[in-house]
Amino acid sequence: MKLWGGRFTKETNKLVHNFNASIGFDQKFYHQDIRGSIAHVTMLAKQGILTEEEREKIVAGLTSIEQDIALGALPIDGTYEDIHSFVEAHLIQRIGEAGKKLHTGRSRNDQVALDMKLYVRDEIKELKALLLHLMHTLQGLMEEHLDTFMPGFTHLQKAQPVTLSHHLGAYMEMFKRDFDRLLDLRKRMNYCPLGAGALAGTTYPLDRAYTARLLDFDGPTLNSMDSVSDRDYLLELLSLLSILMMHLSRFCEEMILWNSNEYRFVELDDAFATGSSIMPQKKNPDIAELIRGKTGRVYAALISLLTTMKGLPLAYNKDMQEDKELSFDAIDTAKGCLSLFDGMLQTATFRKEQMKKSATGGFTNATDAADYLVNHGVAFRDAHGIVGQLVLLCIEKKCALDDLTLEEFRSISPVFDEDIYDAISLSTCVEKRGTLGAPGKQAMLQILEINRNQLHTWSEM
Ligand code: ARG
Repeated sequence: MKLWGGRFTKETNKLVHNFNASIGFDQKFYHQDIRGSIAHVTMLAKQGILTEEEREKIVAGLTSIEQDIALGALPIDGTYEDIHSFVEAHLIQRIGEAGKKLHTGRSRNDQVALDMKLYVRDEIKELKALLLHLMHTLQGLMEEHLDTFMPGFTHLQKAQPVTLSHHLGAYMEMFKRDFDRLLDLRKRMNYCPLGAGALAGTTYPLDRAYTARLLDFDGPTLNSMDSVSDRDYLLELLSLLSILMMHLSRFCEEMILWNSNEYRFVELDDAFATGSSIMPQKKNPDIAELIRGKTGRVYAALISLLTTMKGLPLAYNKDMQEDKELSFDAIDTAKGCLSLFDGMLQTATFRKEQMKKSATGGFTNATDAADYLVNHGVAFRDAHGIVGQLVLLCIEKKCALDDLTLEEFRSISPVFDEDIYDAISLSTCVEKRGTLGAPGKQAMLQILEINRNQLHTWSEM
């Protein structure tokens, strides 16, 4: 059944039908399509464009169709062009004449613009819940690992000591920004395109503000041509999902490194790891690798839609139908990755001793040794040179700075005294870094408090 057979004299070519049809994927938002239609006819009745009786019949028909689809009693079949035609045809089948009035004052162009916005709004809610859950997991780990020392890296070389709490806190900041971007998008996109018609509004006395209110929008969109051809909010969504995936991917990369035999900072739970078909000893971090890998397809969706949109004249063009599979896939991918990553993190065991050993072994306290000299009146550049010589000595002796005798320290600079050992101990090195945002415990406790309040506010929203 077609919505537009009237002016045609021939059957549509089968391949053309298949190529043009979107029902294979836009059935994903049948619920939103029906919700939008109910709001539309409610407004039409209020405006006297439909009778109250017609409205009731249509709403009852749409509700029964929605229930039947949900129960699997009404399978969505591919002979229809899209979900809009499918619902309308079944409505007419079920309630007769009144069903033919559903599409009064509406085009599929404003209809699909609405459906997609409603769908994205619902998905933003789910993404927020998953992200919030992950942040709660992270907050728990941060509280647990305030005293878990580990090396901090630059250039993947051991640099200065931090704690696991502090390292995880970096990801917390990234996820907080991701969450904020979701809120921001939700706010900016929340205007209702319904009533824009095909491109130039309609001649019926629609009450667009009323429809917008019925559907929880902040108001109607302000230009009918933009309303049917705006896909900015999808580009913003794909862009924020790309950034979110990039964060997950970096975290995964670290989990993969840390899980390797060389680092052994973390042990993934058996339930979140996989084996090899040939090498019996292997326990592989496939989940982390897959999340890292799937980041590529989310980026691809963003670039693909940007490319689709860049040459389109106003207003609606069929190219825009391409927005759906790309967005659906990116959303589903991000949701899946968020919950799997959360599970992997919750069940992983961090090897505190191994992390501490690694922080002790790699001269991560060399800066602190230089700072010690500066505190005793040596200019920083000279101190840097002195500690450089000490490091060379340690490399020769295959030991850490902490293992040198006081005589050895003094052989390079007489400024050193007994208290050097305390000054370069791991705990001193971390504790002394007490500025806001640094790994020292007092500073971290402040951050944990800020996070707790933020997560609480977001959970209440
Ligand atoms: N399936 C179409 C889409 O996703 C719906 C809008 C169709 N409008 C039209 N004039 N052909 O964009």
